[in-house]
Amino acid sequence: MPLYKSVTINNDTQLLVWQITESHDTLFKQVRLKDVCLARVEGMKSEQHQRGFLSVRMLLQEAGYSDFDLYYANDGKPHLRDGKNISITHSHDFSAIIISSRNTGIDMEMRRDKIIKIAHKFCSSEFSYLNPEQQNDYIRMLTVIWGVKEALFKMISLPGISFKQHIDVDAFTLEDTNGTATVTFEKMNNNYTFLFEEIEGFTLVCSFEAINL
Ligand SMILES: CC(C)(COP(=O)(O)OP(=O)(O)OC[C@H]1O[C@@H](n2cnc3c(N)ncnc32)[C@H](O)[C@@H]1OP(=O)(O)O)[C@@H](O)C(=O)NCCC(=O)NCCS
Repeated sequence: MPLYKSVTINNDTQLLVWQITESHDTLFKQVRLKDVCLARVEGMKSEQHQRGFLSVRMLLQEAGYSDFDLYYANDGKPHLRDGKNISITHSHDFSAIIISSRNTGIDMEMRRDKIIKIAHKFCSSEFSYLNPEQQNDYIRMLTVIWGVKEALFKMISLPGISFKQHIDVDAFTLEDTNGTATVTFEKMNNNYTFLFEEIEGFTLVCSFEAINL
C-alpha cells in the first residue's frame, strides 16, 4: 500500500504517513536519489532500513519535494532547501514525515511490552500519573511518552539533552490524543504541544512549539 494518510494539521503543517508493503526494488525504481543518499542506502545492512529510507523519499515526492531538496546537518537533523522544517521517522512497516514553516518533530514507535522494562530510563515526573497496574494502558502511555521525547529531541537536537532529566511530559489521557511537555535544559525552559495517534500496532507522535496548537 502506498500513501497511508496525508493530513493538513494547520495552514502550513503537513503530515504524511507511508505503510511500507513494497519491496526494496519497487521503491527503488520510483525514487531519484542524490549520489550521497544512493551510497547511504546501498551501505545499509538491513533491507527493512533501506525500505524505510526509500519510503521517506516517496513521502517527499508526495509532498512535492525530492531527495534533492533534502540535506542533513552534521547532527543528523534533516532540512529542506526551501527553508521549511522537516522531521522524519521510520519504524518497521511505517514511515512518516512532517513538514512545516515552524520547527516540528515526529516519531513513530511500535508498541511493545518491553517498554515497561526501560520506563525508569526515560520517565521521571511522568510516574506521578502513570498506573502500571493497568498494563495495557501503561504500555500505550509509555509509548506516547517515549515518542514525545524522541520527537522533541529531533526538534531541539542539542547534545546532552536527557529524556529523563530534561523532558517532562505533563499528565494526559489516551482519549485526548494531545498534550503538553516542557524541556528544561541549560538556559532553555520551553513549552511544547504534541498530538498522538495509534495506527495499528504503532504510536505516531508529532510535537510542536506551544503556539502551534
Ligand atoms: C536520532 C534519533 C532521534 C533517531 O530516532 P529513532 O527513533 O532511533 O529513529 P527514527 O526512525 O524515529 O528517526 C530517524 C530519523 O531521525 C532524523 N534524525 C537523526 N538525527 C537527528 C537529529 N539530531 N535531529 C533531528 N532529527 C534527526 C533523521 O531524519 C533520521 O532518519 P534518516 O536518517 O533516515 O533521514 C535517536 O536515535 C536519538 O539519538 N535519540 C536520543 C538519544 C536518547 O536520549 N535516547 C534515549 C535515552 S533513554
